[in-house]
Amino acid sequence: MTLSDGFGRTFRYLRLSITEACNFRCSYCLPDGYKKRPGPAPLSRVELRRAATAFSELGLTKIRLTGGEPTLRKDFEQIAADISALQQVRTLALTTNGYRLEKRAHLWRAAGINALNISLDSLDRERFRQITGHDRRDEVLRGIDAAFEAGFETIKINVVYMKGLNDHEVGDFINLTRERPLSVRFIELMETGEHAAFFTRHHIPADTIARKLYQQGWTPKLKAADAGPANNFIHPDHRGSIGLIAPYSKDFCQSCNRLRFSSFGNLHLCLFGNFGLPLRRYLQHDEQIGDLKQQLIKAVRRKTAGHQLAQHQTGMTGNLSAIGG
Ligand code: 5AD
Ligand code: SF4
Repeated sequence: MTLSDGFGRTFRYLRLSITEACNFRCSYCLPDGYKKRPGPAPLSRVELRRAATAFSELGLTKIRLTGGEPTLRKDFEQIAADISALQQVRTLALTTNGYRLEKRAHLWRAAGINALNISLDSLDRERFRQITGHDRRDEVLRGIDAAFEAGFETIKINVVYMKGLNDHEVGDFINLTRERPLSVRFIELMETGEHAAFFTRHHIPADTIARKLYQQGWTPKLKAADAGPANNFIHPDHRGSIGLIAPYSKDFCQSCNRLRFSSFGNLHLCLFGNFGLPLRRYLQHDEQIGDLKQQLIKAVRRKTAGHQLAQHQTGMTGNLSAIGG
């Protein structure tokens, strides 16, 4: 059994948000910080295990733990260990802002996480503080060293590329890939419901970076059939690689290979969709996993061709902290 939609896309990759809480205040995401809203608690460790079990039995082999900041959860390592123990899960990835990386990288590796995405929007200490609200650049940089020491082989750095904030740092980020097998991924700023004005001020299309890469001798890597939307570039003098994520490019959605599950148990077929399908009631007993799988199969068939961001339709997505970017 696999999960496929009406456009020939099969889904092998799940982004599982385990909390919407975050301790950073990234200007493009939670500029005023996370505020707890009244409502249900996030999915418990067992609910998460049941969800991951259903998806993995439907052919999903890669699960990313995301948030909010997933590592804020006290039971984070246990959640990771439960999911990495599932036989079909080959890649258990984590997206983190890196604030605990230095101290915990080895524990996360031991819990079975084998791919890391670290958000790092500036290499300049003061600029980092301005963007995230925290003076923690040095901690995050030491965290990257700790991640290499802990044996992570796939380490990606996510940089949201923004006019007037970090666009002058592209060269410095590219330099990070010279000696180390890091993948630096420039992400084009996406418009979200709560931050239309910020978007207008700071958005720059990803092709401005692509042009720079071509000029400097980078070449695009051929995409595997099941690769996601990132376009990757390599260079003979660099051990690492560069990725461009261009959500506004016209064929971006064609290679969509992911599904999203929110920390409240809603299935999101698109980051910018208008609804999340509430499935928490199927997570209450182990015996419901079969029913959950049926619900998932039915729902995924309804996935639409793509988002309508070009028309400024941001769907229900006020910011990305709830469904994890
Ligand atoms: N535009 C682009 N990327 C975003 N992220 C969050 N909000 C946005 C946005 N508006 C992504 C970033 C960050 C990750 C946690 O989510 O990549 O590193
Ligand atoms: Fe937190 Fe990530 Fe949003 Fe920054 S982008 S505020 S680290 S959830």
